[in-house]
Amino acid sequence: MPTPTHPYGLTGRTALITGAASGIGRATAVLLAEAGAHVHCADRDEQGLAETAALVAKAGGVATVHPLDVTDRAALRAAVTAAGPLDITAAIAGVMHRSSVLETTDEDLDRILDINFKGVLRTCQEAARSMIEAGRPGSIVTMASGAVDAAQPGLLCYSAAKAAVVQLTKTLATEAGPHGIRVNAVAPGWIRTPMTGRHSPEVQQQTEAAMVRMSPLRRVGEPQDIARAVLYLASDASSFMTGQILRPNGGVSMPW
Ligand SMILES: NC(=O)c1ccc[n+]([C@@H]2O[C@H](COP(=O)([O-])OP(=O)(O)OC[C@H]3O[C@@H](n4cnc5c(N)ncnc54)[C@H](O)[C@@H]3O)[C@@H](O)[C@H]2O)c1
Repeated sequence: MPTPTHPYGLTGRTALITGAASGIGRATAVLLAEAGAHVHCADRDEQGLAETAALVAKAGGVATVHPLDVTDRAALRAAVTAAGPLDITAAIAGVMHRSSVLETTDEDLDRILDINFKGVLRTCQEAARSMIEAGRPGSIVTMASGAVDAAQPGLLCYSAAKAAVVQLTKTLATEAGPHGIRVNAVAPGWIRTPMTGRHSPEVQQQTEAAMVRMSPLRRVGEPQDIARAVLYLASDASSFMTGQILRPNGGVSMPW
């Protein structure tokens, strides 16, 4: 693996980022590219991917796009193979879902687990396999959520999938560590992205007001706040961190 001169630098490194067409994934793609990585951007939203690639190019970086669905293992494997030996993987793709426990259907649960947990699992498996086969150390970052720390009405499927991501992260860290692969999760609080923008205006207003009131920083999180946490975990700056859950949440550990 190339050794950049600055611990936060990623010059010469290759990164795969899922969910790169929007929000946190897009901000991460741009920031990692600015730090010097060649970013391979994967998402099911082709238009959004093209917009991210244009932003990376505008920032002076290099992006390759891979339109794919994280429920499709063959497509993920093809993207990992095409990207070449990976140094960094950020498994960020995910969807929101709200339904009460009593109204949750088998289909809801299957769909959310398939994307938010198994999608991350497939991404981690394909990335770790490629790193191990290439004999390269690396860093894998998963996207959990502050929802794993507090029960909220309507968030069973989402938070159960994210809790499984936390357990995957810790377990893979124990198994991949001897190969020099670090695995950590980021568990953001409420971040202003298209995902949170799809909640009803009432939920958005109430939550943002609560965040501003409860956060010692008196503001809502932005995608760049989370991209910076991913950069830390992706880079050598976090060289002795593995199996950890980083919580960029403005100091609000229980937002509701
Ligand atoms: N925004 C928040 O407040 C917040 C808080 C905690 C965790 N998160 C997590 O951060 C991640 C990014 O969220 P965001 O807020 O940027 O949302 P977003 O909706 O802006 O971006 C999510 C991206 O994932 C992609 N995606 C969804 N399903 C996919 C699939 N099956 N295959 C490929 N791509 C798929 C979407 O196309 C989109 O580009 C998610 O995992 C989310 O659960 C977000």
